[in-house]
Amino acid sequence: MKKTTALAHANIALVKYWGKRDSRLNLPAVGSLSMTLKALSTTTSVEFQEGLSIDTLSINGSDAGEKQTRRASAFLDLIRKDAGIQHGAIIESVNNFPTGAGLASSASGFAALTVAAANAAGLDLSPTRLSELSRQGSGSAARSIFGGFVEMKLGEKADGSDSIAVPLHPAEHWPLAMLILITSEAEKPIGSTEGMNLTAETSPYYPAWVDTSPDDIAIAREAIVARDIEKLGEISEFSCFKMHGLAMSANPAIIYWNGLSVTLIHEVRRLRAQGIPAYVTMDAGPQVKVLTLPEYVEKLTGLLSEIKGIRQIISTELGGDARILPE
Ligand code: DP6
Repeated sequence: MKKTTALAHANIALVKYWGKRDSRLNLPAVGSLSMTLKALSTTTSVEFQEGLSIDTLSINGSDAGEKQTRRASAFLDLIRKDAGIQHGAIIESVNNFPTGAGLASSASGFAALTVAAANAAGLDLSPTRLSELSRQGSGSAARSIFGGFVEMKLGEKADGSDSIAVPLHPAEHWPLAMLILITSEAEKPIGSTEGMNLTAETSPYYPAWVDTSPDDIAIAREAIVARDIEKLGEISEFSCFKMHGLAMSANPAIIYWNGLSVTLIHEVRRLRAQGIPAYVTMDAGPQVKVLTLPEYVEKLTGLLSEIKGIRQIISTELGGDARILPE
């Protein structure tokens, strides 16, 4: 069987996904809306081999641990089932950014794995089916199948076939930029899957989070159509801080921020008060992402890089679809 290599970009949700309504099919409890990021990507190759009874997974050149290999293997079982094959696979995955630090490595990782594995198994699947499969690897990965601005539909069917991402607008619709301020490269204390499950089980605020999500998505969609940075930035911050407030209201509290994250949140808001369009979003980790317009990237990078303790600033525009790379 042939070896296939695929590339998928990471994505950052502007309206966040946090919580599941079905863990087995990995169906989200809320929809979400994201932008796909050009500068962050995972490249994954998959080769199913006759006679191989297990899967092996390497990430960035080293053997992945048992937990990650098991998760990838369980995912490949879905592909094997569709393709009617039983062979084990050799999976090699490389991220061009720090893994496990809240930079959406599971999104680009599972999207690249889906595209590579489906092709290597001889399946010819639509982007929608690829998105549905990716979701079963990781919810946010469903969005990384598409470039530009992407909406993850909540869906309502019990089999999950309508819990898929849909492309809203390609990258060219509105050239936005995002700065990713790396505050720490340490692995996060609690992963997103575990974090959102604990939140759903213990936070008294969880029902309000689920109830208010559709409005946020509707506003973000309108803001993108109108290319209104203020409207998009404000709804993104609202969704981000609602999600983090929610996580902090879990028992025990989940706190993804470090001290520098808090400093940066205040700094971005201070710069905004001075007229720079800059809005914060954060995921399940301490990195601070700043949504802005391309013409402010240089100025913002200069101002923010003066803050002590920032490890790295990655600046990115919107990226394209997940795709197969020529061998
Ligand atoms: C904070 O997609 O990593 O990044 O479906 O359990 O794999 P699983 O969760 P995951 O959660 C992402 C959460 C988030 C917000 C978002 O990307 O929407």
